Amino acid sequence: MPEPSQDRDSATRALLMDAARRAADYRDADAGRERPVIGYAEAVAAFDGELPARGEEPHAVLDALVRAAEPGLHSTTGPRFFGWVIGSSHPVGVAADWLTSAWGQNTANHVAAPAAAAAETVAARWLLELLRLPADASVGFVTGATMANFVGLAAARGEVLRRAGWDVAERGLFGAPPVRVVIGDEAHSTVFSALNYLGFGRESLVRVPTDAQGAIRPDAFAQALPRQGPLIVVTQAGQLNTGAFDPHDSLVPLAKARGAWVHVDGAFGLWARACPSRAALARGVELADSWATDGHKWLQTPFDCGYAIVRDGEAHRRAMTIAASYLPPVQGGERDPSHHVPELSRRARGFSTWALLRHFGRDGVAEMVERHCALARRLADRLAAEPGVAVLNDVVLNQLLVRFGADRDMAAGDAATLATIAAIQAEGTCFAGGAKWRGRWAMRVSIIGAATCAADIDRSAEAMIACWRSVASAAAQG
Ligand SMILES: Cc1ncc(COP(=O)(O)O)c(C=O)c1O
Repeated sequence: MPEPSQDRDSATRALLMDAARRAADYRDADAGRERPVIGYAEAVAAFDGELPARGEEPHAVLDALVRAAEPGLHSTTGPRFFGWVIGSSHPVGVAADWLTSAWGQNTANHVAAPAAAAAETVAARWLLELLRLPADASVGFVTGATMANFVGLAAARGEVLRRAGWDVAERGLFGAPPVRVVIGDEAHSTVFSALNYLGFGRESLVRVPTDAQGAIRPDAFAQALPRQGPLIVVTQAGQLNTGAFDPHDSLVPLAKARGAWVHVDGAFGLWARACPSRAALARGVELADSWATDGHKWLQTPFDCGYAIVRDGEAHRRAMTIAASYLPPVQGGERDPSHHVPELSRRARGFSTWALLRHFGRDGVAEMVERHCALARRLADRLAAEPGVAVLNDVVLNQLLVRFGADRDMAAGDAATLATIAAIQAEGTCFAGGAKWRGRWAMRVSIIGAATCAADIDRSAEAMIACWRSVASAAAQG
């Protein structure tokens, strides 16, 4: 039997307050946490059990969820998590995201969700201003950079084929004029996936060699550009391992002269444009046709949040618009969120984006990017001063590649690096993972958590060096 409405209201309130208290407890503890996390198999065991025949009381469910989940949660919201490139889900974004869930808006269109659609409209304008991209570009609020690349490249595919007299929406890809895609050898793996979803197999790609930092070499690029036919060029602002930028100010004009659509993957690096001291790295990026970036990296929104930005709004909408008789028409200049992304029903990502842009402001974002870049340099200097440790990349942004046993041969250096990474993860002061760079293992460090400060870096450097020393002395003894 349904509960009377007053009981239901107070039960809902008690449950949400309970969740809020547990979330706050977790975040308090996470700020200074130093313990390793259980692995996948143990985590499955923690959640496992028979499908319940009878439903359980809400607080008991929350309690069970927290007990099962917390041992397997990496400290990604804490100040010393340097794995992959993971923003820290800033409390303001989390609070806005709670409200987003509580409000339960389906952000398909402006009639079903006027406030959610409006928040996207304004947040989109602010994003373009902050990233110094064309004010009339259109923005799709997607799950992350993978989908942002997909959307930008879908618009690219449709437009270069349209210019070649082929309507891809009408005729599909079979029999279409071949489209070539020129892309750097060190592009992110998800860009290759996005291209694949769009029907571009490996044979349609022209991969361009890169320099020691993973940036496209302009000489190789000029040679690689096909002389005719529909063409898409994919560049990168912020290489995952090194933070390097392709030289857009020379590449983009060359590509445009050849009639190409230029798409930039700037999952985290695009945010350099919001920081006056780093903006020069991304010079020329604004000349491109589409851009992909994340909210859940440098803007610190909770997962999942990314932005697909397209200069030609019509090309964007041609690639993404979902039309049906039951969906409202856009008549008076309204913006329907679903016309810019692959999905119809979805979360209202504009709320947390709007809230964080409002909280940080232009100055706050610039300060954060600048601080993270300076901290990456600080960590690089500390580590490089230690015998046997080398920093493999030019630290231009927030990414660092560190090799332990750098004075040893390839196999011994790989073993020392992997052993040191494992020791650092087990010790727990901070977290960093491994990556292969140019055939050698390295520890990859990404400084991107909102709260990370100099004391966190110094403490982490000490822990990393202590781990390396113990690995080195164990190797010397054994
Ligand atoms: C350069 C680059 N592109 C794309 C991606 C994929 O982003 P997401 O995981 O948000 O889809 C990443 C993720 O780290 C990245 O660094």
